[in-house]
Amino acid sequence: MGLNRKDVLGLQELTAEEIQLILDTAVPMKDILSREIKKVPTLRGKVVATLFYEPSTRTRMSFELAAKYMGADTMSLAVATSSVQKGESFRDTAQTIESMGVDTVILRHSVSGSAQYLAKIVKASVINGGDGTREHPTQALLDMFTIREKRGSFAGMKVVILGDILHSRVARSNIWGLTKMGAEVRVVGPPTLMPPEIDKLGVKVYYQAEDALEGADVINVLRLQLERQQKGLFPTVREYHQLYGLTPARLKLARPDALVLHPGPMNRGVEIAPEVADSPQSTIVEQVANGVAIRMALLYLLMEGGSSSEGIS
Ligand code: CP
Repeated sequence: MGLNRKDVLGLQELTAEEIQLILDTAVPMKDILSREIKKVPTLRGKVVATLFYEPSTRTRMSFELAAKYMGADTMSLAVATSSVQKGESFRDTAQTIESMGVDTVILRHSVSGSAQYLAKIVKASVINGGDGTREHPTQALLDMFTIREKRGSFAGMKVVILGDILHSRVARSNIWGLTKMGAEVRVVGPPTLMPPEIDKLGVKVYYQAEDALEGADVINVLRLQLERQQKGLFPTVREYHQLYGLTPARLKLARPDALVLHPGPMNRGVEIAPEVADSPQSTIVEQVANGVAIRMALLYLLMEGGSSSEGIS
């Protein structure tokens, strides 16, 4: 079975089998990353473009590296210094980039649904690098790859997603992916940062961090997204940390071998205590490395149409 689709826009649309295929394909990709010469010719002659209307360190750099490691050419539109600043529309910008012969576009945009819109107006493949508060599928896939690598499977696993659920596309993509793969997902945060009807996505909803963390196998700590808040949704950052920050004391409520994930960038001392971020239970650095492998797998599956890792040398 291959990934028979033009675009990857979210985990809502992917089946459990497709998620499994992407995770399986990332395994040999990770092997390539451990080689002295990290290069295969699989995507030679292909062009990958990154189109980021919001800041990024991990997602943009890892997509560019993933494409380069697989032999593709890359180009990156720096929106802040592009003709977008002269008023060029999103549609015209997208069509201009496509006219240069691009095969795959990675889009990050502040508007939810922008990746779907782009996928409709270009023939190139589109991968969603984060759209508004809707989805960040490659982040969830790398989170899931990290969990599976450490624990083997998802069935029955208790995964806590802690913090600013309201503004988090990472939370939504993780919820779609983890529930499809059989995990028990608990979301916890202040009532003002909890989307209405989130329980309809098949998660257990908590408002007390201590209740949610009891017996957890995995804790995925979310960044407090102050830039997306139009009004004060909690009194102070200090009080947020007191009630919802993942401290060493709160971590003790989870299983002794519980994994601590964070998508980055972190607000140390706000949603996560520095001692927890740097503890042996933290997988934050490994998540970044796994992100390159996941993005290599996606580019390969979309651009080569292959199944699993056949054809990679
Ligand atoms: N996790 C994540 O998307 O990080 P960047 O914003 O640095 O890409």
